[in-house]
Amino acid sequence: MLKITKKKIAAKSNLDNYEKAYKNYSLEEAKKEISYFPGGKLNIAYNSITRNALNENTKNKTALIWESEAGEIKEFTFSQMENLSNKVANVLKKHKVKKGDRVFIILPRIPETYYSFIGIMKTGAIAGTMFAAFQEDGIFERLKKSEAKFVITNTELAERIKKNRQKLKELKYIFLTDIGISGGEDKLSLPEEMESASASFQTVPMEPDDAATMMFTSSTSYTPISGVVMPHQAVISQHLTAKYVLDFKEDDIYWCTADPGWITGTVYSIIANWSNAVTTVIYEGRFDAGKWMKIMEKYKVSVWYTAPTAIRMLIASGVDGRKYNLDNLRHMCSVGEVLQPDSIRWIKENLKVDVCDTYWQTETGSMIVANFPGEKKKIGSIGRPVPGVIVKIIDDQGKEVPVKTEGNIAIKPDVPSLMKTVWKNKKMYDSYFKHGWYVTGDRGYMDEDGYIWFLGRKDDIIKTSGERVGPAEVESALIEHPAVIDAGVIGKPDKLRGEIIKAFVVLDQKFNPSDKLIEELQQYVKKHLAGHAYPREVEFINKIPKNKSGKIVRRILKAKDLGLPEGDISTLEDD
Ligand code: WT7
Repeated sequence: MLKITKKKIAAKSNLDNYEKAYKNYSLEEAKKEISYFPGGKLNIAYNSITRNALNENTKNKTALIWESEAGEIKEFTFSQMENLSNKVANVLKKHKVKKGDRVFIILPRIPETYYSFIGIMKTGAIAGTMFAAFQEDGIFERLKKSEAKFVITNTELAERIKKNRQKLKELKYIFLTDIGISGGEDKLSLPEEMESASASFQTVPMEPDDAATMMFTSSTSYTPISGVVMPHQAVISQHLTAKYVLDFKEDDIYWCTADPGWITGTVYSIIANWSNAVTTVIYEGRFDAGKWMKIMEKYKVSVWYTAPTAIRMLIASGVDGRKYNLDNLRHMCSVGEVLQPDSIRWIKENLKVDVCDTYWQTETGSMIVANFPGEKKKIGSIGRPVPGVIVKIIDDQGKEVPVKTEGNIAIKPDVPSLMKTVWKNKKMYDSYFKHGWYVTGDRGYMDEDGYIWFLGRKDDIIKTSGERVGPAEVESALIEHPAVIDAGVIGKPDKLRGEIIKAFVVLDQKFNPSDKLIEELQQYVKKHLAGHAYPREVEFINKIPKNKSGKIVRRILKAKDLGLPEGDISTLEDD
């Protein structure tokens, strides 16, 4: 019997020598991998789909293998993705979409999400996505702030827009993916509109700096949420990091578990995987350890990108990876939160691969620090700067600190994928840039070999199950409840989720603390803000610590929660 060679043994990393690649790499080199229109213009959508649909070698290659939660399977070639995204682009054009208009997708992981995202960018409009766990207030805030013109969603999720519909003056149409006939004056059926739309479309050439996407993320300064705008030239960094760090090869079957409501799920599950012409698996369903293993086995996944919480959930489930045939899995990466050494060990034992940690942010638009396949790793380090990105550890005055000294993780801002604006908030955008550096807000140090070690965030952003949640948004949601007069929210370390959301709540005198009230407050946040952003722990207290200007001093709540000394509270007023 013919013995099948394991792909993972045969494969050699694209980055044969980190030092060499790092030295020789230049932006010019990266740009050669990208397709342009005359005058140096470009479009992410063209690079991700169109050029593969026009290429004889890739046009009939499978771009997307999709499995629904119920087990339905659909496959799409690059040509089909091209036609479907062209149809979406033509539908938007028919309804007078203009360059720079915001078009938001609020959908689960279904094929429509993926080709609509591409279709929006083709028109020159800005494609936004939103995690489908957001509820009416979370959705309203984001649609209002972005002044979205169109929303692509389904009947069930559209219900969440209803309450505030009248207040969304710029919102022209809501396209529904699941109805055959247009209903209501502002609702249109996407399938019906697509049916009569042409399958050809001339992608709009964009300036490198022009906005391509807008992702809302949480902040703790200036505003609880901000619309981070990524330019079309981002595809240069995205394509290259995917090629080197995800180490894509022609025959790879790639699965990224991130939801397209977050940046990883758009950049490395739509843009960079397809700009590298890689066949991509999308599973619609929720986390399920056995099901995930079966997906890897069934589709012969060879490259896998996931998050530390997911790995911890796999470990906690007791699943035995060795019981599945994962011979094709040759490479795996992780992102979003600290990857623990025991997770790396578990993966090695169960899935027989080394998991490479990668580090970046919504604002950087692509990986900036990573562990590279085939290179020596230091367990616990987030890795080394990706080629083309200068990463340094600096103090608050912008001065580089010596090796092994804690400081701010910062990059030189000449990275093509770095955000171009924070939507209508120049002050906040400017606040990221200090002394010629883009400052990430994370703390860390670099060792003598140039490896970077992540120590934590400087601000109060919470990372729960890898999802970024701003405490202010949760506090505002709690304060809306009649029983709550004040609230302070922190991230509390948690073995499984990295952090959980914990709320300290001051009750109106008319209400008494009880377990029932805790449950009610949790449900309230779930219902109004988002299913993923509710406080798993609630504690009632008399007063929320604040400084002179009325800002919540969350470090005191954190210290209180961990039973640590609360620090010098005499200076609190000046915090
Ligand atoms: C924040 C950005 C864009 C990737 C998904 C997250 C934290 C990111 C790591 C890592 C420890 C990490 C940082 C960063 N983070 N990667 N490998 N190890 N922490 O994007 O939601 O914008 O969050 O996630 O604190 O600033 P995001």
